[in-house]
Amino acid sequence: MSIEKDVKNYNSENKNTKVSDIESRPEPLKVLMCSPTYFDIIDVKNTHMLGQNGNLKKDLARQQWQSLHDIYLQLKADAVVEDVMVIDGAAGCEDMVFCANQTFPWFDKRVVISKMRHPSRQKEVPFFEAYFSALGYQAIHLQEAKMFEGMGDTIPHPHKKLLYGGYGHRSDPKAYDEISKTLQVPIIRLELPNPNFYHLDTCFVPLSESEVMLCREAFTAEGLEIIEKLFSKVFYIPKSEAINTFCLNAHVIHNDKNGKKAAILQKGSVHALEALKQCGYTIYETETSEFMKSGGSVFCMKMMIY
Ligand code: ARG
Repeated sequence: MSIEKDVKNYNSENKNTKVSDIESRPEPLKVLMCSPTYFDIIDVKNTHMLGQNGNLKKDLARQQWQSLHDIYLQLKADAVVEDVMVIDGAAGCEDMVFCANQTFPWFDKRVVISKMRHPSRQKEVPFFEAYFSALGYQAIHLQEAKMFEGMGDTIPHPHKKLLYGGYGHRSDPKAYDEISKTLQVPIIRLELPNPNFYHLDTCFVPLSESEVMLCREAFTAEGLEIIEKLFSKVFYIPKSEAINTFCLNAHVIHNDKNGKKAAILQKGSVHALEALKQCGYTIYETETSEFMKSGGSVFCMKMMIY
């Protein structure tokens, strides 16, 4: 049995399957951001938000968002990405700027629509559904799963039809049963036991077909074992660096059409920076302090679309 057939578990029967045997997948090369007009911190949805209520510097947040947008425009000029688009943030949707969470787009122009855990974030989703529909995407609505937070928890293996699905805080493992059946793609489920790493995109950054950087403490022993089998090189990033700099919320881009590579991440990391250098990335360090107060950084602030 191959890993592509047994979409549910990576088990003793399929564990010798190599990533190189899995079909390839084009990378999404268009960037979608959401304007920060209504970004705010008004409650505690994750541990990073504790004590941050009323602490947000809104003007600074706008400047930081603009700097990130400018980096993406530069990457467009450099042909690393193909386009940079912006969806308007909506009044009353204080977290909509984190636009990695409301959907999971697939290369055949289908898009899985999220079921956000928090009621205030559920209001964001219809704006994205309408946006994707206008682009000609067909929406997939989950039936059984109660929670699914899109690209925040679902990270593709670079260039491959293979997904990693984080669960435990914001997504329900049942979501991955439905998604793997509908999209016909194997999904490696990864339990996230540590509340600091409440989305997979806070602790796991695939760098190439064979390299990944992650924080060991974010995973279970079983999860780590699977990851270590699928990637021949794992860069272990210290927990304190991952929490304090959100470096594992880096956005790494591998343009599979022209081979260009770039990585954007919060300033101040050491080990993650070194791993990115070793893997040949052109690195852009930027400041996202105001978004980190809400539990997110670069990866959360964009959606990559086809
Ligand atoms: N305050 C937001 C929340 O708790 C932050 C979302 C960050 N997004 C991410 N992809 N990790 O939902």
